Amino acid sequence: MDNKPLRSRQWFGKTGKDGFIYRAWMKNQGIPAHQLQGKPVIGICNTWSELTPCNAHFRELAESVKNGIYEAGGYPVEFPVMSLGETLIKPTAMLYRNLVSMDVEESIRANPLDGVVLLCGCDKTTPALIMGACSVDIPAIVVSGGAMLTGKYRGHDIGTSDIWRFSEDHRAGFMSDEDLYTAEACMARSRGHCAVMGTASTMACMVESLGLSLAENAAIPAADSRRKVLAHLSGNRIVDMVREDLKPSDVLTRQAFENAICVNAAIGGSTNFIIHLLAIAARVGVELDMDDFNTAHKRIPLLANLQPSGKYFMEDFYYAGGLPALMKELHEVLHGDTITVSGKPIKHNYEHSECFNREMIATWKKPFNEVAGIVVLKGNLCENGAVLKPSAASTELMIHTGRAVVFEDIEDYKNKINDPSLEVDETNVLVLKNVGPKGYPGMPEVGNMAIPKKLLDKGVRDMVRISDGRMSGTGFGTVVLHVSPEAAVGGTLAIVQDGDIISLDVYAGTLHIELSDEEIAARKKSLVLNTNIAKRGYVHLYQTHVEQAHLGADFDFLKGGSGSEVVRDSH
Ligand code: FES
Ligand code: MG
Repeated sequence: MDNKPLRSRQWFGKTGKDGFIYRAWMKNQGIPAHQLQGKPVIGICNTWSELTPCNAHFRELAESVKNGIYEAGGYPVEFPVMSLGETLIKPTAMLYRNLVSMDVEESIRANPLDGVVLLCGCDKTTPALIMGACSVDIPAIVVSGGAMLTGKYRGHDIGTSDIWRFSEDHRAGFMSDEDLYTAEACMARSRGHCAVMGTASTMACMVESLGLSLAENAAIPAADSRRKVLAHLSGNRIVDMVREDLKPSDVLTRQAFENAICVNAAIGGSTNFIIHLLAIAARVGVELDMDDFNTAHKRIPLLANLQPSGKYFMEDFYYAGGLPALMKELHEVLHGDTITVSGKPIKHNYEHSECFNREMIATWKKPFNEVAGIVVLKGNLCENGAVLKPSAASTELMIHTGRAVVFEDIEDYKNKINDPSLEVDETNVLVLKNVGPKGYPGMPEVGNMAIPKKLLDKGVRDMVRISDGRMSGTGFGTVVLHVSPEAAVGGTLAIVQDGDIISLDVYAGTLHIELSDEEIAARKKSLVLNTNIAKRGYVHLYQTHVEQAHLGADFDFLKGGSGSEVVRDSH
């Protein structure tokens, strides 16, 4: 037990005019005086929004958190921050991740909070809240919203990854408009986020493997009553975390990040994981770079049979034992002694767990796939790196050399991709430029470009594709992403021309364009950058401060933290 005075006493513990002001308006909510007399004040940072359907059940979830906080002797205060729904926000929710992180950081710091519960769900809501909370560094615990129940369509289990298949089937004429319309009502049939190992589930697993949540947080379905139990218990726990002064910086050690990287490989997690984890590490001052994500030397196999790398859905994962059962298989490569928000070593989360379905969670000795994780590629086409998810790629394309078919930007791509006169065959490499952090801006999930219509009609379903953009965690294909430096800042990607020869070797971790250094330098010299910097507003701030993908695409001025102290009063 720490004897540090509660931070909230700098507001509610004051006498005179200041204390009057800090307390009086709170009382208009019907709060009895004793609630403000020395109990830990716990913020519930809520990303509830009806525009973020994945998080639309969060006010109910917050009630469970509140019950837990009251029960443990704390006082809960729920507050909203900007929410990021992946499906509606244009041009991409990623454009606003850093903005939300600032909203979270300043909301926590400016207010009389002793601890905070972060309600996270849809993709970007998780990293944004963690990044913000880390920069303040008061006790914080994550409660994820949980995945949807598995979709059911005409006798088949479906989830978000099927959208990409449906879309190709629709373009190829195997599915009618009517079929698509029926399927859309069958897929999202309960509360919660995407039911596959897309970015939201990847983030929920990241949280649990980092130790930022209680055990089982990753996989309990949103609709399962045990999700509310977890929320209640997290409400209990945060009050004790305040008493123990257990902060994100105590949990987020270098070892915790290494654990998260191992787990992400074994679950077949989203490529977005890299960008978000790099950004979080930079907020807490832990050294982490692209090379740390190359798990090949640890030979971590794919253990979770989850779409898009495998067959099943998050619901099945939970019933099979969830993340604890999977982490138990990894015990030899995990740092078991890192502390989690429970106050105990992370091995307590998994050492007594059981697996109930080996079709769903494989053993270390007999994995689903020897190939897992994310391969970091290096070469003259991506001086600072690029990434590819081998478990979602085609084996026959892992080593491939082909001529480039270049699209200068997303509009160019959209204009040409279905044009029957486009000169392209399945051996070519599709190259999309100017979809990076600064160029788009916001680095959208367009990296898994659809296959040209005329090749699709021939039955081609995968090709090597390269861009400086991202891919949805639910996507798949032999797709090279996050090329850094991006085209818009003059990376080599910017000078690729139709017909250039590009070589990919996933096993060697290389991506090359067959041009001499002199030719690359000459082309760069005459390059006119295709960057349109917005004149005003948030997009201007974004484009002038966003860093490259290999650094986490955070703003340059947001690295590290400013702590929780605010010296001046408001009146
Ligand atoms: Fe929200 Fe997939 S759209 S998690
Ligand atoms: Mg997504």
